Amino acid sequence: MFNNWEELEKEANICKKCRLCETRKNVVFGTGKKDAEIMLIGEGPGADEDVQGEPFVGKAGKLMNMAFQMLGINRENLYIANIVKCRPPQNRNPLEDEAKACLDYLRNQVILVKPKIIVLLGSVALKNILGQEYGITSSRGKWIEKKGILYMPTWHPAALLRDENKKIDFIKDLKEVQKVYNENIR
Ligand code: URA
Ligand code: SF4
Repeated sequence: MFNNWEELEKEANICKKCRLCETRKNVVFGTGKKDAEIMLIGEGPGADEDVQGEPFVGKAGKLMNMAFQMLGINRENLYIANIVKCRPPQNRNPLEDEAKACLDYLRNQVILVKPKIIVLLGSVALKNILGQEYGITSSRGKWIEKKGILYMPTWHPAALLRDENKKIDFIKDLKEVQKVYNENIR
């Protein structure tokens, strides 16, 4: 556990706790407002994120940004990170031991950010944060409260690229987050 960002980020940037360190170009630590009230958690870096060292800068990220724009959400006011910080080869899902090795960093980030709301982007984020027993299809769009944090599971932005209906759900879920934020937190 680190109680400051500098040490935590320094440690993550040289991490070799799992095999993903062997193929990564950059550790994608996370980005955004360090005391954000809303945090977003994705799965892991893709090719673009691996090159640029920033989460959600590729195709899925651009689609997510469009949704933010539509709703008047400023990306800079959020904190965005992933379950694993290094790109899994061929964009496969992170393996259990990789996610487990990396989760300490993310937990540390959550402790430092102290978000009120966490949006879980897709199944990998949902299962690794709230438990393997959760399924994204039945959980999405429904609030889950745990230890004083409100979790909103929704589709992973990459899934929106393949299915128009999921775009509608995604916007709906973000709107719900915005509503609860405006009514209870802001
Ligand atoms: N998909 C993710 O889950 N995270 C990213 O940072 C980019 C794509
Ligand atoms: Fe370390 Fe996480 Fe990268 Fe694995 S994915 S090497 S645990 S930073």
